[in-house]
Amino acid sequence: MLRRRDFLTSALASTALAASPLPLVAMKASAQPASVPRLPPAFLWGASTSAYQIEGAVTADGRGPSIWDTFSHTPGRINDGTTGDVACDHYNLYAGDVELMARAGLQAYRFSIAWPRVMPEGTGAVNAKGLDFYDRLVDALLAQGISPFACLYHWDLPQALQDRGGWHNRDIAGWFTDYAQATVARLGDRVKSWAMLNEPSVHAIFGHGFGNHAPGLTGWASYVKAQHHQNLAQGTALRALRAAHSDLMLGTVLSLQPVLPATDRPEDAAAAARFDAAWNTINLDPLFHGRYPAAFEADFAPLVQPGDLAAIRAPLDFLGVNYYGRAHVVNAPDSFLAQASFGPLPPGTHTTAMGWPIEPQGMVEVLARLRDHYGNPLVFITENGACFDDPAPVNGVVIDPQRVEFLRAHLAAAADAIGKGCALQGYFVWSLLDNFEWAEGERRRFGVVHVDFATQKRTPKASLGFLSDVIRGKPGTGIGGAGVASMP
Ligand code: FCB
Repeated sequence: MLRRRDFLTSALASTALAASPLPLVAMKASAQPASVPRLPPAFLWGASTSAYQIEGAVTADGRGPSIWDTFSHTPGRINDGTTGDVACDHYNLYAGDVELMARAGLQAYRFSIAWPRVMPEGTGAVNAKGLDFYDRLVDALLAQGISPFACLYHWDLPQALQDRGGWHNRDIAGWFTDYAQATVARLGDRVKSWAMLNEPSVHAIFGHGFGNHAPGLTGWASYVKAQHHQNLAQGTALRALRAAHSDLMLGTVLSLQPVLPATDRPEDAAAAARFDAAWNTINLDPLFHGRYPAAFEADFAPLVQPGDLAAIRAPLDFLGVNYYGRAHVVNAPDSFLAQASFGPLPPGTHTTAMGWPIEPQGMVEVLARLRDHYGNPLVFITENGACFDDPAPVNGVVIDPQRVEFLRAHLAAAADAIGKGCALQGYFVWSLLDNFEWAEGERRRFGVVHVDFATQKRTPKASLGFLSDVIRGKPGTGIGGAGVASMP
């Protein structure tokens, strides 16, 4: 089903090693024991961000409001009271951020396009000035030899479309397809890799089920509608882009996590199976097998019209996998989410500052599942990273040994998965910059670059130095020879 295109090889070939190395204290601070196994020479190294989390400039050049503008300005919705109004001001500071990536030796940048910049009303007239920003960003990336990986939707729906029902309105498949076509028409001559959606199940669960993300809707019926219409939009847009362009690598991005019962009680085992269906297979099964998970077929049946499942099963060129940890689940009759919820972690499990378990082996499990049950698609890890309570910058660097160790362990897992035959092609760290972490606000820092939100000063963390060493195959990282220098 997955077609590996010649494009991938040519995209990688055009990625040049940036001329100047990263002259940072961070490099020295990152020295690690030689414990990361070798990754293939053509492995692609990138960093990931999303529009609302970093761009700021929410009223610049005709951008319309998004559901996250509305949500973050609603008192009580964001834990630290911040908004994405300014965030990292990447809209104005993108050139320096690209320069930083180049100096670190990163080869690819996954970012998202803000639909409300391109179509402020969600449909209709295209706002050329909004697209101009991405034009400038893409040119800056290409000038540094960094491959742009664009994602068309990372949760920032135009508010005007929410007012028309948003993801509950079936018409959104057409709205999204029009927006995707307009965007690719402008950028597709230079951006060759396009993901349709970021984590539809997470958007449906938290934004349309639990209600702690925008647009703040709740309940199972709401979740089901948001799921189906995202799946449909993904397939419809991808097919339209495929028909119009023959030289693009088209895919989508899912959040995948192994789901385990938190106890040995039978009801928790049953809950884990339901949770797995609602988080993972709700997207995987329609995408790869053209059906909804059996447990929920009846819930989806009233929404599914003839042809929908065939449209959703659009052949992908790649699947983006965002991996953070496993889910440990208990039976929870009051939970909207298939009467299941997150439960206690196994004793002794280390966690990040988000309370998320640190379980690198889960990445191997996710990739093995794709290998064994979904035809071993061509995969990029499009997000992986960790939030820790980092110390303040000292002498131009932030020392973040926990993040270094997190990355080291997950890169080892990536190598393990490749050794086991999984078609993993690259790794994008989440995130390039500390940013606006949705309902948590600015207090939760995932960046490999520290951002002082008061001054917008960027300070590289030791973890960026570590990644830079790994990419360049420096002695001491254990990945000797795996850097960009040896790419095809
Ligand atoms: C993912 C989101 C991303 C970021 C990370 C921490 O689910 O895609 O925007 O918030 O979690």
